[in-house]
Amino acid sequence: MKKIAFLFFTFLMVTFSVAENLYSPDKNFKLEFAVNALGEPVYSLAYKEKPVIQASKLGFELKNQGSLRNGFSIKNTKIASVDDSWKPVWGEVKEIRNTYNELLVELEQKTEDRTMKIRFRLFNDGLGFRYEFDKQPKLNYFRIVDECTQFALTGDHKTFWIPGAYDTNEYYYSTTKLSEVDGSTVDGNGIGTHGYFARNAVQTPLLMKTADGLYISVFEAALVDYSAMNLLIDQKNFVLTASLVPDAVGTKVYIQTPQHTPWRTVIVSDKASDILASKTILNLNEPSKIDDTSYIKPQKFIGIWWGMHVPNTMSWDYAHAPNIRLKDTDWNALTPLPQHGAKTKNVKRYIDFAAEHGFAGVLVEGWNVGWEDWNGNWKEEVFDFVTPYPDFDIKYLNEYAHSKGVKLIMHHETSGAVTNYERRIDKAIELMKTYGYDAVKTGYVGWIIPRGEHHDGQWMVNHYIRVAEKMAANRIMLDAHEPVHPTGMHRTYPNWMACEAARGNEFNAWSAGNPPEHETILPFTRLMGGPMDYTPGIFEIKMSYYQPGNPNQVHTTLAKQLALYITMYSPLQMAADLPENYEKRMDAFQFIKDVAVDWDDTKYLEAEPGDYITMARKAKGTDDWFVGAITDENARTAVVSFSFLDPKQWYVATIYGDGENADWKENPMVYQIKKVLVNSKSVLKQKLAPGGGAAISIKRATKAEMKGLKKI
Ligand code: NOJ
Ligand code: CA
Repeated sequence: MKKIAFLFFTFLMVTFSVAENLYSPDKNFKLEFAVNALGEPVYSLAYKEKPVIQASKLGFELKNQGSLRNGFSIKNTKIASVDDSWKPVWGEVKEIRNTYNELLVELEQKTEDRTMKIRFRLFNDGLGFRYEFDKQPKLNYFRIVDECTQFALTGDHKTFWIPGAYDTNEYYYSTTKLSEVDGSTVDGNGIGTHGYFARNAVQTPLLMKTADGLYISVFEAALVDYSAMNLLIDQKNFVLTASLVPDAVGTKVYIQTPQHTPWRTVIVSDKASDILASKTILNLNEPSKIDDTSYIKPQKFIGIWWGMHVPNTMSWDYAHAPNIRLKDTDWNALTPLPQHGAKTKNVKRYIDFAAEHGFAGVLVEGWNVGWEDWNGNWKEEVFDFVTPYPDFDIKYLNEYAHSKGVKLIMHHETSGAVTNYERRIDKAIELMKTYGYDAVKTGYVGWIIPRGEHHDGQWMVNHYIRVAEKMAANRIMLDAHEPVHPTGMHRTYPNWMACEAARGNEFNAWSAGNPPEHETILPFTRLMGGPMDYTPGIFEIKMSYYQPGNPNQVHTTLAKQLALYITMYSPLQMAADLPENYEKRMDAFQFIKDVAVDWDDTKYLEAEPGDYITMARKAKGTDDWFVGAITDENARTAVVSFSFLDPKQWYVATIYGDGENADWKENPMVYQIKKVLVNSKSVLKQKLAPGGGAAISIKRATKAEMKGLKKI
């Protein structure tokens, strides 16, 4: 009898749980939250009165504890509003507005005597929400077996996806309907890690387009002490469910309360360019934890790097010595390979080139012992991060670089042996401090040690953050390769300037490469989380140049490589090709020399994922603008309206475009450069070749230029 009464009471309480509504500040978005008859938390989202996310469940399955999925009632709700702004240390714009309405729901699971909160923030371009767990007697430590967050979509949307995976995001994109997603159709990525984990799994950020023209991005922000979110697609009902990366023993996440999850985000617009402009991921991250940011310098750099990726040119390895052990190898006794890239003579030449052309940094890979046996053996001690090869004079080269106003960029390839890196990182940093390095590129090629951990799991997520913090404590800038997808954490750690975390230009050197549409998708997907070290600027497009008969090539025209400096945002931009390839085309190289890496403003002029992007950016603290326009495999005319310019001024636009009959495959390296006068009323129709692009630098015109140049 008692039990029946209790059930009856619970039933009443559940059905009477009031639904809560929340609107975005501009009222375009409406969020509804409710607890249904089973006590399951449910939310839905509409944009301009169209449903985007239908009733979707929230909650968790736990290990050896009752689930956090049902039996809830609403204990309390709280509404708040914020409208403020903040200035990023570096970025695409100089100031970011942060305006949202917030609903905090406190849920009570009476049967288990536990509470769980869900905090929703509704911005003018979408939704962020996260789970929060207060410290409480019945919910202290717990293990998440599954996060059950759903995103119930309204149909079989078109989607731009890479396969769900635990260890890599270095895939090309497929564009299909949700019902057609099949991870097994995508080739392995050739970097020796696990592939897709389920056919219907995709990674985030996931971009979709509905039949009636809505763009929807599902992602996460502020991924801290948690594992990364993939999505499983219910291919009949079009419901996406979170799928977290497990650890070595199959657990997804370890929680000790108080703790909260990363934000889950749904960014929506009827204009593709609004997705690119969204600052919601950044707004959901914590402000900078770094007080003195004076050492953080957006910059362009070159490197002993592309030479190792193209055929027959340079090696990381100093000698031919497979199957060595770090601790019993006498490096001085080995015969150096003539193609060893990091030898003092080469590095000096790169320093000279950087100094001459205004590059702040020179990345040197293959400077340290161990490369002879670095990849594929899943071994613990590949590198020590402190011992230079005998032909790399670390002291001399750093002094020489500094004397020329250049700094070397350190390289720490961990080969995935992460415990080894953590054991040695303090010494590695000490070495950097001794020689005056202020930037490091890290790398995580291969399977992770501790064995069984994954690149995108909680343990590694925390590792990347530990490294960012350690580097910050030592005033060092960081660029991480093969990390988990970035989630806006560069707001909190502005020294963590770039990540790879996607398929970069390097794949064009040694694999089937990146299809011409790749760079028109990345800004809508991977770059939602932060800057990418894509390594643009390849001028020598075909690998047959290095090795007759080699079919690999960069899948763009040369002009498109220039445009990538604008469309592929990063405060660290590499001029990735070999200096000798630039020396042959100094007129085109001029754009790379001139282009800025830090911006006061960005205008998204036209964009369609998978097809084209044209954007304009205003260089920080100047009146100079730069425009980048790129297309996929189809020729196209980019329309550049210069209405962003100061209406009282004339400007010289130097246009670096595709040459006559340019084509990414047949004729990629022809370009033409012309100068015209433009003002805020000018509109340029610029032809882009198949796989092509255009880059424009725009400066105020001098009196002499006003006479000599044509106005458009
Ligand atoms: C893969 C990185 O993406 C690449 O930039 C680097 O040169 C190699 N690993 C070696 O660390
Ligand atoms: Ca890589």
